[in-house]
Amino acid sequence: MCGIVGYTGHRQAAPLLVEGLKHLEYRGYDSAGVALIADGRIDIFKTAGKIAALEKELAGAHPTGRTGIAHTRWATHGVPNTINAHPHTDCGGTLALVHNGIIENAGVLRAALSRRGHTFRSETDTEVLAHLIEELHSKGDGRPLVESVAGALVQIEGTYGIAVVSTREPDTIVAARRGSPLLVAIGNEENFVASDASAVLAHTRSVVYIDDGEIAVVRPRDYRILDVGAVEKHKAVTHLEWDLGTIERGGYAHFMLKEIMEQPNSLRDTLRGRLLEEEGTARFGGLNLTDEDLLKIRRIVITGCGTSWHAGLIGEYMMEELARIPTEVEYASEFRYRNPIVDDHTLVIGISQSGETADTLAALREAKRRGARTLGLINVVGSSIAREVEGGIYLHAGPEIGVASTKAFTSQIVALAMLTLKLGRLRSLSILQGREVVRALARLPELVERVLQNAAAVEHIAERLLRAGNVLYLGRGYNFPVALEGALKLKEISYIHAEGYPAAEMKHGPIALIDDLMPVVFVAPRDAVYQKIVSNIEEVKARGGRVIAVVTEGDTGLAKLADQRIEVPETLDLLTPVLTVLPLQLLAYYIAVRRGCNVDQPRNLAKSVTVE
Ligand code: G6P
Repeated sequence: MCGIVGYTGHRQAAPLLVEGLKHLEYRGYDSAGVALIADGRIDIFKTAGKIAALEKELAGAHPTGRTGIAHTRWATHGVPNTINAHPHTDCGGTLALVHNGIIENAGVLRAALSRRGHTFRSETDTEVLAHLIEELHSKGDGRPLVESVAGALVQIEGTYGIAVVSTREPDTIVAARRGSPLLVAIGNEENFVASDASAVLAHTRSVVYIDDGEIAVVRPRDYRILDVGAVEKHKAVTHLEWDLGTIERGGYAHFMLKEIMEQPNSLRDTLRGRLLEEEGTARFGGLNLTDEDLLKIRRIVITGCGTSWHAGLIGEYMMEELARIPTEVEYASEFRYRNPIVDDHTLVIGISQSGETADTLAALREAKRRGARTLGLINVVGSSIAREVEGGIYLHAGPEIGVASTKAFTSQIVALAMLTLKLGRLRSLSILQGREVVRALARLPELVERVLQNAAAVEHIAERLLRAGNVLYLGRGYNFPVALEGALKLKEISYIHAEGYPAAEMKHGPIALIDDLMPVVFVAPRDAVYQKIVSNIEEVKARGGRVIAVVTEGDTGLAKLADQRIEVPETLDLLTPVLTVLPLQLLAYYIAVRRGCNVDQPRNLAKSVTVE
């Protein structure tokens, strides 16, 4: 999510690093920083906000140094400010480090390091790693940097892509990876490390991709890649042929497709470190509400806009079914102006990818003013809503660039499921039921992967819908909001009129529209309302309608009824939306592409709506 670039060679590092960071900016940023090795010391420059601000600071300081590392941050821990920006240093300022990923056991390590006399400057998980390396490298005749980094990494749990520099080895960068992308780029008497090839493409097209568990030692004239056992490996050099735009999109034609395909990993990141299988519940670092506070909640109001509002509807069904807490979902724009009834026994949950949507922010302010407890389910750390609420759950889905929300939606559902678990287990949800949900959540990323492998089948179906003027989406229960979301996706990016409806409500209106020119998409996994929706499909077929059905794998019953079928694996009812929405995201995407629409920036829409 964050971006890393490092340089060691014969040129001044600062301008090259800033230029590299600018190419990483598209990934989302909230702060940036550079560390340069010069004359036996490390000079650090950091700023909150855009790379341009860092560039300005560097221009004023005229720093020197031919080895350096740089970082653009998308916060996961701590507010986005200068102190929390990377690089981070050890106590003595001997070494500096940049890090992408999450260190899950940072809390425990931080406490132990503090007891051993280390002083922390930031709230980040990353700083822990700087102090761990310091213990091995910086004192007395400490170990070489590469050994110290390896020794520190075995102590941490979580994911990382890191680059480290030290005054003791002034022309060396040590880089390592577990779960966060990293590469070495090979130049002429100069070498780079980067989290993403776009940062170095202007200088070289020869790269070596670092794999999980490997450590790279990079110097101006050579580099070495070591495996887990510190044994040197010979790795193939890849010659990149992509242009810059393609690289930024990870090789995909559009950010939207990249973000759809990223969902197995964005969900892993949302779940990481939060499931407690034994206890059948979930834990969160930032709720800021005690179990006692949570037990006082008698009613929940979920609020948001657009796709986030749809996730809220799924949350309502989950909360009522499993946590047995009366729950309502309100459009933020309506809630804020209708004199809402809330008190200190009401929990108001705001859902927002950007954390900046003006109506959602205002709705939460209004709820707070009236004494309600407030939580945010937010993707952008340190955003306005995240700062407004008492506590919350960060989605950790990574930057979402495509205007039509995709991966944030599935992460929101998963975050809501975990919150439901927590609230439910404090009440009547049994440990056995809790464990069942935990297990199903843990398996979800793998199932998402399976659905996405079938993208070609969805593309094939999309071909037949290119000329539709209207499409109706129907679902029931947990999949009624998925019908709304499927219709929204199609409207947003392909400009085809689409409506989502609860399947049984169809007969109170939309059924009048059905003919062979209006395709009907049914979201019909085998869940508690399956039989009911089969009857609704029959009603459409009886009127000559064309049916596309999203069904559970192996559902041959519906094969006869539906004109086209898309299969998704089986999971618990409450989690089916995470799987059933995927083909609908893909369907909208492929239709829009074939119609020549601007998929990532549809007309009239904005990624973050900061006006009423
Ligand atoms: C805009 C975006 C939607 C998004 C909605 C809410 O309309 O185009 O994709 O769902 O805002 O945004 P939020 O950032 O609050 O989730």
